[in-house]
Amino acid sequence: MKVLMVCLGNICRSPLAHGILKDKIKEHGLSWEVDSCGTSGFHNGELPDSRSVEVALKKGLDITDQRSRQLTFNDLNHFDLVIAMDSSNYSDIIQLCATDEQKQKVKLLLNYSHPGENRAVPDPYYHGSFEAVYDMIELACEALIEEENK
Ligand code: 4NP
Repeated sequence: MKVLMVCLGNICRSPLAHGILKDKIKEHGLSWEVDSCGTSGFHNGELPDSRSVEVALKKGLDITDQRSRQLTFNDLNHFDLVIAMDSSNYSDIIQLCATDEQKQKVKLLLNYSHPGENRAVPDPYYHGSFEAVYDMIELACEALIEEENK
């Protein structure tokens, strides 16, 4: 399984999702590929936001090997799952898709923990709680592994 986590800037939410899923995959002894990117290239080449780095470190995860990059068309072919943090990311990704096969790979992360509710991982960049974001992503990543490792 190849999983791509996607948010807007690839500095706050998707780097956490990337780090958390990668860690849980290892715990489960699975050999999935995990990566992340942003629908925008605003922060290309940057480290994750220091607040994401900090909350991850507090939980024992080092995400400082990650660098922001923008989603490409090739990602929609390479990955099996393209996971959006919110509905705006979701529609931006869908707009880049050329085929139904690509569109079918696109999912909202929190639909794994809260099926059918279309909940968003709120963007914490301006005034969000990185801790709350971490916890909701962690719960959804556990559910994702359960669901996709059948
Ligand atoms: P992210 O958060 O999409 O979770 O990485 C954001 C980071 C930067 C911006 C917006 C959201 N920005 O507008 O620069």
